[in-house]
Amino acid sequence: KTPREIKEPPLSPKGMRDLMGDEYFAFQGFFEKASEIALYYGFRPIETPILERSELFLRGIGEDTDIVEKEMYTLKTKGGDQLVMRPEGTAGVMRAYIEKGMRQLPQPVMLYYGGQFFRHEKPQKGRYREFRQFGMEIIGTKKSIADAMIIRAAVLILAEVGIGDVCVFINSIGDKESRANFIKELAHYYRKHINDLCQDCKRRIRVNPLRLLDCKNPKCKEYKKDAPEILSYLSDESKRHFKEVLEYLEAQNIRYRINPTLVRGIDYYSETVFEVVKGDCEEVASDSDSPDSEEKLVKAEEKNKRTEKEEKEPSELYAEDVGLALAGGGRYDYLARAIGSKKDISGVGMSIGVDRIITPERMKKLHPRILRKPKIYFIQLGFEAKLKSLNVIEILREARIPIMHSLGKDSLSGQLAIAERMDVPYALIFGQKEAIDDTVIVRNMKNRSQSIVPIGKLAAHLKKMKQNF
Ligand code: HAM
Repeated sequence: KTPREIKEPPLSPKGMRDLMGDEYFAFQGFFEKASEIALYYGFRPIETPILERSELFLRGIGEDTDIVEKEMYTLKTKGGDQLVMRPEGTAGVMRAYIEKGMRQLPQPVMLYYGGQFFRHEKPQKGRYREFRQFGMEIIGTKKSIADAMIIRAAVLILAEVGIGDVCVFINSIGDKESRANFIKELAHYYRKHINDLCQDCKRRIRVNPLRLLDCKNPKCKEYKKDAPEILSYLSDESKRHFKEVLEYLEAQNIRYRINPTLVRGIDYYSETVFEVVKGDCEEVASDSDSPDSEEKLVKAEEKNKRTEKEEKEPSELYAEDVGLALAGGGRYDYLARAIGSKKDISGVGMSIGVDRIITPERMKKLHPRILRKPKIYFIQLGFEAKLKSLNVIEILREARIPIMHSLGKDSLSGQLAIAERMDVPYALIFGQKEAIDDTVIVRNMKNRSQSIVPIGKLAAHLKKMKQNF
C-alpha cells in the first residue's frame, strides 16, 4: 500500500504509549525527586546510548534468558552493525565504566540514570514494551554497605513518592564457587522430573540450570518448592556478605523477607539479589510470580478487557496492586569480565520500574516543583500589550516565578475568570495603557487590591512579593 491508500488512523506501536499532561509531569516529577535523592547520596548522572551493540547484552545478560531469547529489539544498520534497543541499563553503564577508564577515578564510582528501555514482552498491566526505569549503580567495591545503600535508596525513593508499605524480597546466589555445587544439585533434582518440564526447562538443565527457578510455566513452578536451596551452598565468604547485608537492613528498619528461590531473570548477578514489592512482608506472596499474584494478574487482565470495551480507564494501565516488582537489583561481580574487561570489577545496583509507580492518585502530587503551584496568572489585552508581553514573561522567568496565561484570549473578564479558577494568588494585567506607559498592574486575587508597577521595577517588586507566596 502506498501511504495515500492507508485509511486507518495512525496508532502507536503495541505496548508503547504517549505520555502527556499530568502523567507526563508525574514522570518528570518522579525523575526530579529520585535524581535529587541520588545526588544527596553522592551519585552522579550518566546517560548511555539507547542503542548498544548486541554482544553487550548477549554476553552481559546471558544468552539463555527471556530478555535475550525473546524480548530484544534488534536491528541491523545499513553499515551492517547489529544493534539492540537497550532492554536494561546496567550492562551499558558497566560498558561506559570500562570504556571511559573510570577505574582511574576514586572508587567506588556511583552513577544514576533514567530513561526508556525496550522489551518485546506481552503487554499487560504494568508490562510495557517501552517502559521507564530509574537506576543507581555502585561500581568498584565489594563491600556489603554498598548493597545496603542501594536497597536503602530504592526503598527511600519509593517512600518519598508515597509508597511506604513495601517489602524487600532478598536472596543470595553466592559467588562462582558456591554456585557451582548448587547448580550440580539443582540439575540433578530437576533431571528426576525432566519428563514433566517444559521444553525450555529441559534445555535449561543442560545449559543454565539456575534459570529453572525462574520459569513461569505453572507445571515447572510446582517443582520449585522442593528444589535445593542455594543458601545452604553458600561459601563462608558469601554467607558473611549476605549476613552483613541483612544486618544493615535491620539496622535501618527495612522490612525484608528472604526468598530462597529468587534468582532474577538476568545472568550477571552474583551474591545479593532483591526485588521490592508493594505490601506488608507478612502478607505479600514470597514471589512476584507466585500463583497468588498470577491469579490476581489474570483477574486484572479480565477486568482490563471488559473496561477496554466500555471505557478505557487510565488506572487500568497501572500495576502496583498486582504484586509485580516495583524495583529489582543486585550485585554483579562478574559482569565486567563477561563483557570483555581484563580485570574483575565489582558492582551492585538497582532499577525502579517507573511506569509501575505512577498511578492516577499520585500524578498531581508528583508534579515537578516548578509546576506545583503557579503563583501568577498573566493577562494581556490588545495588540500593543501582546507585542511587549513576551518581554514581561521573560522578566518573570528571570525572577523564577512560574506563570500561567492564555495568549489566545483577548478579554479581561475571560482571563480573570480563568485566574479565579486556577486559584493563583496574583494576576499581572498588561493592557494597552500599561504597554504605552511601560507599567503592569499587579492584582492581589484574594482581596482584589491592585497596584501599578513600572516594568523597570517589576523584578524588584516580584522579589518582595515572593516572600508572601
Ligand atoms: P529488572 O528486574 O529486569 O532489572 O527491571 C527492573 C524493574 O523494571 C522491574 O522491577 C520492573 O519494575 C521494571 N520493568 C521491567 N520490565 C518492565 C516492563 N516490561 N514494563 C514495565 N516495567 C518493567 C533490571 O533491569 C536491572 N538492570 C536492575 C539492576 C540494576 N540490577 C543491578 N543494577
